[in-house]
Amino acid sequence: MGRVYLTGAGPGDVELLTVKALRVIREADVIIYDRLANPELLKEAKNGCEFVYVGKEDGRHIMPQDDINEVIYQNALKHKSVVRLKGGDPFVFGRGGEEALYLLERNVKFEIIPGITSAISAPAYAGIPVTHRGVAVSFRVVTGHESPNKKVSQIPWETFKTDDTIIFLMGLHNLPKISKKLIEIGKAADYPVAVISKGTTKDQSVVVGTLENIVEKAKDVPTPALIVVGKVVELREQLKWFEGNA
Ligand SMILES: C[S@@+](CC[C@H](N)C(=O)[O-])C[C@H]1O[C@@H](n2cnc3c(N)ncnc32)[C@H](O)[C@@H]1O
Repeated sequence: MGRVYLTGAGPGDVELLTVKALRVIREADVIIYDRLANPELLKEAKNGCEFVYVGKEDGRHIMPQDDINEVIYQNALKHKSVVRLKGGDPFVFGRGGEEALYLLERNVKFEIIPGITSAISAPAYAGIPVTHRGVAVSFRVVTGHESPNKKVSQIPWETFKTDDTIIFLMGLHNLPKISKKLIEIGKAADYPVAVISKGTTKDQSVVVGTLENIVEKAKDVPTPALIVVGKVVELREQLKWFEGNA
């Protein structure tokens, strides 16, 4: 029985990979990877390493999660070192917890290798600090996948009235509903919002607007993209450093 490394691949820039992740990628007998894990990283694998693609498209799975769990398990029965490579961090909307539980139930040894999540690194590459003294004392990373119109919501919308930064992942398709909902709970229509697409890669693009106009401004933005809501967005004007330097 092998060991499974649930490994964060980072947000896109291949250099945003941990030293530990690079080591296990180089030692892997098989790498099971997602669409959001930069395929350039596979070049680091040793000769003879097998590759299994179980891509996901923004919540829509090419392979259902149950099948992915089973693929990982079956590979652990055959190989000594199995790397499950996932975009960003495996435990930030990465379903890494479910995969770990599945392995635990089958007595497969696993390790978690955290990755740099897009939730903070894409804003950083856009010149947006998720916290900033005197502006935002905390930040939240929230699923944008759930429709804000849902009757019984797990998302505490009413608590988003403060100036703390809110980062929505998987939310581009719900942007009209998200911005409407935030105005409904009392945020100003001219409250700052940024949409960051393909963050940390050479194709990164950033659209800045307000709750009122971001839908129109960001209508052609390609995925993957995340939404940052907060006054910290205003710092981008001074702190943007990456676009044009990539
Ligand atoms: C299923 S979640 C996985 C998040 C991942 N585990 C992480 O820590 O970054 C996928 C969402 O992450 C966001 N995302 C991932 N990579 C991104 C990138 N390079 N730029 C912008 N958003 C990204 C998008 O909101 C996308 O819909």
